[in-house]
Amino acid sequence: MTQNTLIVSNWKMNLNFIQAKNLAINLKKIKYNKAKLINVICPQFLLLPTLNEVLVKSDFILGAQDFHHDLNGAYTGDTSIELVKDYNCKYSIIGHSERRIFHNENNIMIKKKVRLCLDNFIIPILCVGESIEQRKKNIYKEFILKQLTECIQKIDCKELVVAYEPIWSIGTGITPTVEDIIEISELIFSFLKKEKIDKFRILYGGSVNSFNFSEINALDKISGALIGGASLKIDEMEKILTSC
Ligand code: PGA
Repeated sequence: MTQNTLIVSNWKMNLNFIQAKNLAINLKKIKYNKAKLINVICPQFLLLPTLNEVLVKSDFILGAQDFHHDLNGAYTGDTSIELVKDYNCKYSIIGHSERRIFHNENNIMIKKKVRLCLDNFIIPILCVGESIEQRKKNIYKEFILKQLTECIQKIDCKELVVAYEPIWSIGTGITPTVEDIIEISELIFSFLKKEKIDKFRILYGGSVNSFNFSEINALDKISGALIGGASLKIDEMEKILTSC
C-alpha cells in the first residue's frame, strides 16, 4: 500500500523494569525515516508510567496489549480503558490469540473492546488468524471472515487496524508463504471496504524479523507488522526500522 508503515512492538509479558527502560532508551537512538514510519510500543501495563517518561519527545507512541471489555467494575486483576487512556496509549491490541486462548476471550467481548476503543479515541488493532487445524482442513478463510464479522461488522468506525496473525506462526519461526499472506490480506481488505471504514491498515504478525520484514511489508495490501519476539532485540529493531 502507499501508506506509511505501522510497526507495532508487542512486548507481551517480557522485560523487567531495567530491561524495558534500557530497550526504550536504545530504541530512541535509532535513526530511522520518521516520515515513513509510525512506531508503537505495547508493553506490560506496569511499564507504562516509566515508558511515558523515557519516550517523551520521541516519535514512539505507546499502545496497550489489552484492557477489559467493561468500563469498570468488580474484575480483579483487570485493567480499564480509562487507565489505558490516562497513560497515553493511542492504540490497543485487541483479540490477540494469546488472549483468546489463555483468557477465553470470544468475539462478543472483543467487539465490545473495539467499541470502547473507538469511543475513547484509541485506535484498535484487531488480531485475527486461524489455527493450524483450521488451515489443514481448509476452513481458514471462513474462520477469519467469521472473526471479522462478529468483531467489527456495522461497528461504524473511522479508523481501524487489522492484524493477520496465523496462530501457527506466532513465536514458531514459521511464516506463511507470500501467497498465503496476499490471500488473507485481500480477504480482509474487501471486508473492510464493504464495511465502508474510512481509514484502515492491514498488518501481518507472526515470526516477523529483520530477514522477512521487507518482503512482507512490500506486499500490496500490507502496511506494517505486529512484532513479538524480534521487538525485544535492539539489533533486530534497528534493522527493521532502518529498512523502511
Ligand atoms: P512473534 O509474535 O513475532 O513472536 O511471532 C507476534 C505476536 O504474537 O504478535
